[in-house]
Parts: sequence; structure tokens; C-alpha cells
Amino acid sequence: MNPAIRLETTPAIQSAILRAEQAYGAANPQSRARHERASRVMPGGHSRQTLFYSPFPLTIAGGRDARITDLDGHDYLNMVGDYAAGVYGHTCAPIQEAVRETMQGGVSLSSLNTKEVELAELIAQRIPSMEQIRFCNSGSEAVLFAAQVARHATNRPKLLVFNGCYHGGFMTYGPVDPPLSISFPLIKATYNEVAGTRAVLRANAPDIAAVLVEPIMGAGGAIPATTEFLNMLREETRRAGIVLIFDEVMSSRLAPGGVQGLRGISPDMTTLGKFWGGGFAFGAFGGARDFMRHLDSTAGGVLSQGGTFNNNVVAMSAGLVGARDVYTPEACLRLNSLGDSLRLQLNALGRSLGIGFQATGLGGVLNTHWHDAIITEPSMVESPTSPLRRLFQLEMIERGYFVAQRGMINLSLPMKEADTKGFVGAVREYLTRNADLLPRAKSLHPG
Ligand SMILES: Cc1ncc(COP(=O)(O)O)c(C=O)c1O
Repeated sequence: MNPAIRLETTPAIQSAILRAEQAYGAANPQSRARHERASRVMPGGHSRQTLFYSPFPLTIAGGRDARITDLDGHDYLNMVGDYAAGVYGHTCAPIQEAVRETMQGGVSLSSLNTKEVELAELIAQRIPSMEQIRFCNSGSEAVLFAAQVARHATNRPKLLVFNGCYHGGFMTYGPVDPPLSISFPLIKATYNEVAGTRAVLRANAPDIAAVLVEPIMGAGGAIPATTEFLNMLREETRRAGIVLIFDEVMSSRLAPGGVQGLRGISPDMTTLGKFWGGGFAFGAFGGARDFMRHLDSTAGGVLSQGGTFNNNVVAMSAGLVGARDVYTPEACLRLNSLGDSLRLQLNALGRSLGIGFQATGLGGVLNTHWHDAIITEPSMVESPTSPLRRLFQLEMIERGYFVAQRGMINLSLPMKEADTKGFVGAVREYLTRNADLLPRAKSLHPG
């Protein structure tokens, strides 16, 4: 992270973490036992790194609406929202009904179904830049497919990505790339840096197949791209014949037509995932016919996209009913305005208490941070496991709010204003009680 905003840990913070960890361990013997048992047969005791935090993650026995209960019987308001996928909460009745009905009609049907067509039509109607759509099983797959289509369509090798981006399990890039990420030929630029990125694009245009960008960096810290930045990408890519891919796996929940609709910018290709599957494994990619035709063998396309469960009828039905009947444009606007209001309240709290604390994001996707410098790109975000993040998580769990260690908050449809108000009250109490441990505001944030 930027050295200007590096966070110091102190013995007092360390001893507060120790106390909180001991209380957490004592309160959660069943989750601890499950973690120890799982660790014998699963590396680290899990299958999804995002879910792990020390000393051990809670195991959740079940959920209802926006609340979850852990194995030891504690009840929480779920502020994690399955890292943005959990738009519907845990027991959305129309989706449950659709899944029951679909199961009764039979699964693994070994051919095409009607639900995938209806869902593709709905997506194309909500996000008009997606003239044609293909389904797959995760956002990670969707991005990988879209990138390969772009490389094939342009006959160029490179992708331009942004430092600190998260495009799923295979495509996460930063100054140092995680070993599991695919080593595509890459060019990296800095998010939200207009002139610098324009220069990189112009200097390398003939080699660049696609610019891959999250319109709001999600895992990177809930950092929205400026409209100026996205417009520049649109302008430069159009001029140079580069495919502009918006990774809206996370951000498509933020407005009825995704962030592209909100900003009025049409990318060439888009990737989707998360809520679009109604709670089931899901991915989709699509875009202008001119690119998607490469997947159409009846029109001479040579790209053959495989995947046993690509059109699995349960995800297609759940996703269709969810997006069509539950996450309507009106519901989407309501949820995101609840999120905007929560973000403003959290920022006002930090300012009024003089504490270096802020929330970034857009609509119902937020991230908290322990300094008040304006954040424009991921190097300005403290580590997901920084001591202040760990302390906040453990203490908010103690207060009945399940929050992610990295500070990410995602609202869900069953939440009401009373829920976010209760959360703000609990954060206020945390900030007040721990004021001596927390960084002072430097008044860098305009609010
Ligand atoms: C922007 C973005 N792209 C891709 C992915 C990967 O999606 P999935 O977890 O469904 O593979 C994610 C997941 O968080 C994401 O936020």
C-alpha cells in the first residue's frame, strides 16, 4: 500500500486482537472443531480462500432472510452477502419455489432447455450491449472465455489489466501475480489513471486484444472507476480496434443495466456471475454479435465452448425467476439507495468522531478502510488481513454482525433501513470504545 497511508500496529492493538480472538475461540467451540476436522482432509479446512480468516472461520448452520446462524447457535445479520452474490438473502421464496418445481421436472436433461433462452433474453434486454450471451459455471470462467474470444477475434495476444484487479480464481493480477493466475501476455496499468493508461494503450495498441476492467473494483476494495476513466477506455479501445471487456460479475447488481447502464458506456463484451444464478453456480459472457459469432459453428465460428453444467436447468430457473420477478429494476434501485445511504452514514461517523475510517463503494457494495485518504486504486487499500481489519471483524461478530475480514459489505434484499441503522449504531459503538487504538482522521476525505 501507499507508504503515506501505511497503518502502524501497536502493542495495544495486538493485545485487543488477542482478547477478541480468545473470546471468539471460547464462544465458538463447534466451529473450531469443524475447522480442525476439515483441515485434515481439505487444505486449510476450506475450498474458498476468501472465506478463511484466523483463528478459524465460523461454520454456518443455516440462514433466513438476511440473517445467519452459526454452529454454536449465534445469530448474525449477514453483512458479507456472499461477497456480492447474495442479493436475495438466504430464503427467497420465489427462487425456492422455482428450484423445487425445476427439480420435480428433472435435472441433467442432456440437451437444451427453455429457461436458458428466457434468461438470455432477459439479460440482453437489461444490458443491451450483450446482444448474444453464452452461459458457464462461474464468473471466473466467464472472464476467461471472454478474454479468449477477444484474443481470437482480434488475433492479438495481450490483455491490458489493472494492478490489483480481481477477475476470479485464475485471473488476479498485481505488481506480483499469484501463482494460480494464468500468465497471459499482459500489460498492466493503474486504475483510474487517465493519462497514464491512455499512454500505455497508445504505445501498445497493435498487440492488445482487450482491455479487461471492473467498472468498480470489487475485491480490490470497492473502488468505483470514474466516468472519465471509463470514457477514455471506450474512446481509446474503439480507436485502436481493441475489445473493451467490462467485468460486471460483481458490479451488475448495482443498477438495472449494470454499471455500464448507469454510466451510459457500452463495452464490446461483458461478463456476469454471482446474483444472476439466483444462488447457484453461474457465469455468463456476451457482447456484440460481431465477437460472439466466433462461437457460432453454424456461422463458421471455430471457438468451441464446453462445460457440462453450462446450461444447468436449476441455475437457469433460479437465475431467471430471481432477476425477472425479484431483483426487478425497482428492487435494484431500492437496495442500492439503501447502500448509498449506509456509505454516507459510515463516512459521516468517521468524520464526526475524528477517526481515520471510511467506506468506499457504490450502492449496496461497500468496503471499509482504516484511513481517510481518498482511494482511487488498490495500492491505497490496506491489506485484507491488517490488524485493524482483524480487530473490527472479530468485534463486530461479537456484536452480532457478520462482516468480512477484508472490510467488504454487501447488502441483501431482505434488509431494511432498521438493519443498516442498527449496523451504523454498532460501528459507532465500536469506534467510540476503541478510539484510542484507531488512527486519527487527517481530514483528507471530502465526504
Ligand atoms: C469482478 C469479478 N470477476 C470475476 C469474479 C469471479 O467470479 P466467481 O467467483 O463466480 O468465479 C469475481 C468474484 O468475486 C469478481 O468479483
